[in-house]
Amino acid sequence: MHGDAVVVAEGVRKRFGKTQALDGFDLTVPAGAVYGVLGPNGAGKTTAVRVFATLVRPDEGRVTVAGHDVVRDPAEVRRRIGLAGQFAALDEALTGRENLRIFGRLFHLRRAVAHKRADELLERFDLASAADRLVSTYSGGMRRRLDLISSLIVSPLVLFMDEPTTGLDPRSRNEIWNTIRELVSDGTTVLLTTQYLDEADQLAGQIAVVDHGKVIASGTPDTLKAMIGGRIDVVVQDSGDLERAGRVLSEAARSTPDVDVEQRRLSAPIGVDTLTLPAVVRLLDAAGVDPEDVAVRRPTLDEVFLALTGKRDDGEPAAEPSVEKTKEGVS
Ligand SMILES: Nc1ncnc2c1ncn2[C@@H]1O[C@H](COP(=O)(O)OP(=O)(O)OP(=O)(O)O)[C@@H](O)[C@H]1O
Ligand SMILES: [Mg+2]
Repeated sequence: MHGDAVVVAEGVRKRFGKTQALDGFDLTVPAGAVYGVLGPNGAGKTTAVRVFATLVRPDEGRVTVAGHDVVRDPAEVRRRIGLAGQFAALDEALTGRENLRIFGRLFHLRRAVAHKRADELLERFDLASAADRLVSTYSGGMRRRLDLISSLIVSPLVLFMDEPTTGLDPRSRNEIWNTIRELVSDGTTVLLTTQYLDEADQLAGQIAVVDHGKVIASGTPDTLKAMIGGRIDVVVQDSGDLERAGRVLSEAARSTPDVDVEQRRLSAPIGVDTLTLPAVVRLLDAAGVDPEDVAVRRPTLDEVFLALTGKRDDGEPAAEPSVEKTKEGVS
């Protein structure tokens, strides 16, 4: 039916009071890779993950995980999934090792099996040296890693991760990324929501962009990038040329360039009907502008995201870029 899709959502709706959190949400997640779900604040990402993980019952629509319906067979679904990220459920007053052993027991593993599994995971994910310290002494990154591995006690077929690295420093993010890559190479399918576009770009084979409770675009990062144009950047030798170069660019790119006078740089968005580098150089030359540097850039995933979600119905600007989010110290 859906090949080897592990999560299939069709027409899912969920309302909380006046808020239509999911409004016809469709998603097909193929097995064996990282699937990234992106969207501005309030888009419905967490709600979707909670529906998939059987924590929230959809009002309408259908979701299957590994072929099991989340409403009719929640127990079958739960047996095959792990959930990590925002829902850290660690006991601060216990050590890392004790926490993992308890998770093993919660999942009905025999004591010896739970202990062995805990030791393996601690070793494998680089927490062995901290294993016998209280979790209250762990850094944010270590906690997140322990939370993640606690969801691996029973080797899930699908792991849902809701913003697994929000608020972590670059090193801890890298560690989580490596952990995720290892899991995928072991055959786990990972569905993660993230505010970090570079995280999706680095990890995810496929991405869905969510806005107002539905998926508005999906595909590989490259397909999404191909949907919108790139940018052309020009640095002029002489700042006296900025104005002329600006005229050339706005005509050629049919858009208004951003100008950075100090850096003598102009940057203009270009459409999908690509403007080539030699063409721009020729036009600048004809206008008597001496460029120091000319470059045509493919869009970043951030630019794709903004192009897709930038215009909000309510007139509010789209979600702040992730950098802003960390600056405010969101945990
Ligand atoms: N339990 C709830 N009760 C009431 N409203 C809710 C509830 N859960 C979610 N919502 C609302 O549903 C909408 C979608 O929320 P959701 O948490 O799924 O968004 P999100 O994409 O995860 O956002 P963020 O990026 O901020 O985590 C929001 O308007 C939110 O306020
Ligand atoms: Mg959320």
